[in-house]
Amino acid sequence: MSDNNENEVKIFDDEKKVLLDHNYDGIRELDHPLPKWWLITFAITIIFSIPYYAAYTFFGAQTIDQELAQDMKEMHAKQAAHEAKQGKFNLAEYEAYITGSKVAKIGKKVYKRKCKACHGANGEGGVGPNLTDAFWMHGNGSLETVYNTINKGVVDKGMAAWGPTLGKEKVFAVLKHMMEFKGTNPEGAKASQGQEFN
Ligand code: HEC
Repeated sequence: MSDNNENEVKIFDDEKKVLLDHNYDGIRELDHPLPKWWLITFAITIIFSIPYYAAYTFFGAQTIDQELAQDMKEMHAKQAAHEAKQGKFNLAEYEAYITGSKVAKIGKKVYKRKCKACHGANGEGGVGPNLTDAFWMHGNGSLETVYNTINKGVVDKGMAAWGPTLGKEKVFAVLKHMMEFKGTNPEGAKASQGQEFN
């Protein structure tokens, strides 16, 4: 291409030292190196990729899904251990606790505040079932099964798990109070639900 071609690109003086030799149909290229910081960052990503690739391809590093599955497994195991320890009814502990002088008062108060709205002032029932009869929907009316129901609730039917809110001692106290309803046949008693146990 001749210098007097009217399509010839004008090359400025300060571009001459970075102008590359080749010429593609009049298109010329200037040699502008990439910035240092960019090149360094690029090099780091390449260096990083080598052990990363090796770890996942050859050395069995866990994928995110596997890590999650592992964490969930550990969490469930911890939860189960915690529940087994905390949630289990301990008759000896209960019997020792209910000899306390304030237990009756605490039980009455907790019942009035947390249970009465659904189970009635005297356990006759309302939204929740009658607690004075020998019929039970959950468990068989034993201290242990009733404790478990109070502790874990019947969440899908609208009864909260009281264990975490009240703590073990208040659950013991309200259990003691509630167990005294048995056989009282209060006024307005709700029809029995569940199975009869003696
Ligand atoms: C928001 C209403 C509500 C409150 C408050 C509530 N319950 Fe319940 N409760 C229910 C319902 C509803 C059921 C029945 C679940 C079903 O149909 O399976 C139930 C069931 C029970 C049962 C099982 C009865 C059976 O037949 O097996 C016990 C025991 C019980 N509640 C005790 C308590 C105690 C103690 C408290 C207070 C700490 C309490 N509930 C607070 C609604 C409530």
